[in-house]
Amino acid sequence: MSSENYLQVTDLTVKYGGLLAVNKFCMTVKQGEIVSLIGPNGAGKTTVLNLLTGFARPSGGRIDFRGRDVTGLPPAWIAANGIRRTFQQNSLMFDLTVGENIRAGLHTRVSTGLFASLFNSAAFREEDRTMRIAVDRVLDAVGMQAQRDVAARNLPFGDQRKLGIGIAIAAQPSLLLLDEPAAGLNPDESAQLTALICRLRQDGITIVLVEHDMRVVMGVSDRIVVLSRGEKLAEGTGPEISTNAEVLRAYLGDGSWAMPATVDSEHNQQEG
Ligand SMILES: Nc1ncnc2c1ncn2[C@@H]1O[C@H](COP(=O)(O)OP(=O)(O)OP(=O)(O)O)[C@@H](O)[C@H]1O
Ligand SMILES: [Mg+2]
Repeated sequence: MSSENYLQVTDLTVKYGGLLAVNKFCMTVKQGEIVSLIGPNGAGKTTVLNLLTGFARPSGGRIDFRGRDVTGLPPAWIAANGIRRTFQQNSLMFDLTVGENIRAGLHTRVSTGLFASLFNSAAFREEDRTMRIAVDRVLDAVGMQAQRDVAARNLPFGDQRKLGIGIAIAAQPSLLLLDEPAAGLNPDESAQLTALICRLRQDGITIVLVEHDMRVVMGVSDRIVVLSRGEKLAEGTGPEISTNAEVLRAYLGDGSWAMPATVDSEHNQQEG
């Protein structure tokens, strides 16, 4: 497999009743890239992530991941093979602590049984130690060591979003799909998020980012793909997209979105 076709989406289509939610959508992501998927509300962005993770089945088209056809495979298979996602709405276990939420994200099969755990056997202690190290790694990555024992429901909103990313990266995915991670964050929090996404990429994770916050998008993206009414409207670098007349028209019509005049990654880094 060349890095050119790490993730390749070809003519992906899904129909809901009479609605073509995604129509002949094509996208390629190279290994190590951060590609943003943007577009007005209802454009089909979350649906693309659902299709990539097996949460929705396409009516047509094909998804290849690391040279293998994964179209229509079940979510558990896709997750086990290195594609993880976050959700547009928080999907935390609110009664559990930060550490326990991340532990759940590890999905490590507990090989030692109840009997062993009751008697605190060596095997059980070893497994527990391995889990603790893995949880520590994630807490360091998302900068949440101090909140390890805080119940998820008591976290500030921005930290709940960060924890969602922590759960998704716990199993060390190679491809991470983020669905509006900056939604509801204040400018400080979204600058921190920008820095976190850049660190994840440095750690070797390839990222597809769905996001409305253009500071975050412009701060991290190698390329941007624009979706409108289920179809690809444009693709290019930040500067290309922010001056593309068709893109601006789509967004002006939508009214939900304003393309900032000048944002660049340096600006975002300084804020972080
Ligand atoms: N399971 C479903 N059944 C029927 N229609 C659906 C389903 N999932 C999505 N849709 C429709 O598909 C279209 C695309 O929705 P989607 O959630 O992918 O948009 P989006 O780009 O993520 O929007 P937003 O920015 O608001 O999150 C919408 O018209 C939505 O109502
Ligand atoms: Mg969405």
